Amino acid sequence: MGDQTLKHTSALLSALNNKVQAIPPIWLMRQAGRYLPEYRALRAKAGSFLDLCNNPDLAAEATLQPIRRFDFDAAILFADILLLPFALGQNLSFAEGEGPHLDPPVAPTHLDVFRKRNIHERLQPVYETVARVRKELAPEKALIGFAGAPWTVATYMLTGGPHKDPAALRKHWYDEQEFVSALIDILVDTTVEYLSRQIESGADAVQLFDTWAGGLPEDVLRAVSIEPLARIGDRLKAAHPETPVIFFPKGAGAMAEDYARLSCCDGLSIDFSTPWSIARRTLSPHTTVQGGLDPMLVVKGGRDLETGARGLCETFRGVPFIFNLGHGLTPDTPPEHVARLVEIVRDAE
Ligand code: CP3
Repeated sequence: MGDQTLKHTSALLSALNNKVQAIPPIWLMRQAGRYLPEYRALRAKAGSFLDLCNNPDLAAEATLQPIRRFDFDAAILFADILLLPFALGQNLSFAEGEGPHLDPPVAPTHLDVFRKRNIHERLQPVYETVARVRKELAPEKALIGFAGAPWTVATYMLTGGPHKDPAALRKHWYDEQEFVSALIDILVDTTVEYLSRQIESGADAVQLFDTWAGGLPEDVLRAVSIEPLARIGDRLKAAHPETPVIFFPKGAGAMAEDYARLSCCDGLSIDFSTPWSIARRTLSPHTTVQGGLDPMLVVKGGRDLETGARGLCETFRGVPFIFNLGHGLTPDTPPEHVARLVEIVRDAE
């Protein structure tokens, strides 16, 4: 295909294809968002966060804002992992300062309705956003599409709200394994469809966010996170062999290597509590590591930010690496610190 050359001019895609870059490509989770005044203006214009996600003009603009300001190597689609439950028919809202609400919480009787649902009806604006961004983005910049991992999405669907109690989530699994497994299976199928459409619309790589993978016993983690993600990755690879797949299993700890060893895993994003030296020794032999600076260091800035960012680059010198954070930028981050971070990473040579 014609975009083959395009793929090779992107530092991010080269890194995901196992090529060592002298200067690591950089993008940051939640690089679009409330810490940027231009985002806040766009958000005010759109009305709600959901209105912003569903308006391709404005969502494309939100995606491109951090690229214009900081010249990152990759853009990440502006959307949310909870658009998939919305597409399956749950009502979605974001209460100011509270987090997301899905209504009603999923019950076993909903599963058949989900299975029959055409998710693309409500997701059309997302595909349109991807197409617009890819058209406007410079060829050397990669566009990352994304979705939530089935377990993380299921936790919001099951609780209906901004949950904070990991024990309650584990209890859901132990009490209702059959139901939760059936929900995860539906999410595997629909996530493959959703990401395939993003790729067909112009996404150059895709990332799966498993924010709630942490703190699960090994057998549970395998059942709800590793195996479903492997199934998604394998099916995406069969349909789109050229498109790299990145996993972000937040909090997976000693189990991170099991994700890295999956044949469909082109990149593994490490969280801020993952020891860099251990990641370099155990993950880099299997995949391209991405991450994992503490986002609080970007809030702090100054010498601490410099030491952290340089240390991270140093740890991964000589192996394929993508500079990123160990979780998203927070709304209290000064934009100047982000600009400084990009400078530090590009000067680190
Ligand atoms: O990274 C990016 O810049 C791309 C856009 C993106 C958003 N959410 C925009 C967003 C991505 C990749 C996500 C993923 C996402 N959404 C995750 C996984 C990664 C993670 O952060 O752990 C999760 C768990 C969600 C669900 C979600 N969306 C929550 C819990 C919240 C509320 C917390 C908050 O920061 O307010 C959201 C809202 C959300 N998603 C915002 C943005 C920019 C803030 C909305 C606003 O403008 O008020």
